[in-house]
Amino acid sequence: MKNNFLSKLFIVFITLFFLCCAGLAILAISFSSVQTSQTLKLEEDPKNEVQGSVTIHPEKQWMQNREKGAQYDGVLKNNTPSEISKWKVTIVIPPKARIDSSWNGEYTVEDGKITILPPPDYNQVIPPRGNITFGFILYSPPNFKMKDVTVEYYITKKVTELTSFKMFYYSALVLLIIIFIYTIFMFKLRSLQKKHEYDRQFIEQTLKLFANTIEAKDVYTRGHSVRVSIYTKEIAKRLGLSEEDQMNIYYISLLHDVGKIGIRDSILTKPGKLDADEYAIMKSHVIKSGEILSDFVSLPGASEIVRHHHERYDGNGYPDRLEGDCIPLFSRIICIADSFDAMTSDRCYRKQLSKEEVIEELKKNSGTQFDPQLVPILLDMIECGVAPVELKN
Ligand SMILES: [Fe+2]
Repeated sequence: MKNNFLSKLFIVFITLFFLCCAGLAILAISFSSVQTSQTLKLEEDPKNEVQGSVTIHPEKQWMQNREKGAQYDGVLKNNTPSEISKWKVTIVIPPKARIDSSWNGEYTVEDGKITILPPPDYNQVIPPRGNITFGFILYSPPNFKMKDVTVEYYITKKVTELTSFKMFYYSALVLLIIIFIYTIFMFKLRSLQKKHEYDRQFIEQTLKLFANTIEAKDVYTRGHSVRVSIYTKEIAKRLGLSEEDQMNIYYISLLHDVGKIGIRDSILTKPGKLDADEYAIMKSHVIKSGEILSDFVSLPGASEIVRHHHERYDGNGYPDRLEGDCIPLFSRIICIADSFDAMTSDRCYRKQLSKEEVIEELKKNSGTQFDPQLVPILLDMIECGVAPVELKN
């Protein structure tokens, strides 16, 4: 349910993102250029190298009637990938200076300044990486040196050249790549999750089928292994064991009595008490369980764990009379869950115990049959109803 919601949200997010990109593309095509004004100073502005440059130098000089005459050649260079238009060159000159002749521009002299504008029919625009030339002959006082020159112009940039557009473009590209990788990853993950879930169900159903087949011989133990598995998993969870451990003990518990397949039906279903020989045969089911699972390496330690699930905490159990923490933890958990289910089920040799009797038994055998750290956990499970004491069969 949550996954479906997230998938829909993701699809909506992707759709919105592509709509935004499409909108931006349309916008970029519709408004493909924008004008900004720039100002340059003669050989002073560091932007000259990047944006453009203006150079004016005296090609020829002479003296005439105590005036300096000079032919000035100017170059206005466009170093950008964009067009330059509406350019205007302003040159500060002394009050008595005058222009004698000029070319490649519209010249006016006013308020001690020469203003040069593009001619009406050419040089209106300086192409990208191109330049234009202009020039004039100026008569001025002998000590005049040209230095105060300003160029104003408009630069027409394409929208795609703007820094903000580039930033958005590259951010969108990075985001798109991330979304693409994320989508591939999510599809792959979902496919793996589906496969994992299928495998998990297949394993669980196979093990349950196996356990039910063994228990089918005895009407009193039907469903016993599944119930023990549920209890052991819950105890493992309350002990703070990992999810992997919880699943492992769940699966191992389903198989804890697998050795009973080799026990005669007459012993398994005997209504009365077993004699010594029969009891010895019955006890051998733990060894048989261990042997059957010895090659089942998919569940780590399964063989040893099932072998010891009838050991007692005080060392009086079987088959190896292990004691305390020498008994594998999983075996101790299966032992108490197994006994609890036996107490709360009718058996061929006795009726199920009441809730009070079950609690009494657990407390009485804490530290002798059962691991004392597990008893309070199971008592709490009984109290919460997680481990019900009602008749199971
Ligand atoms: Fe058993």
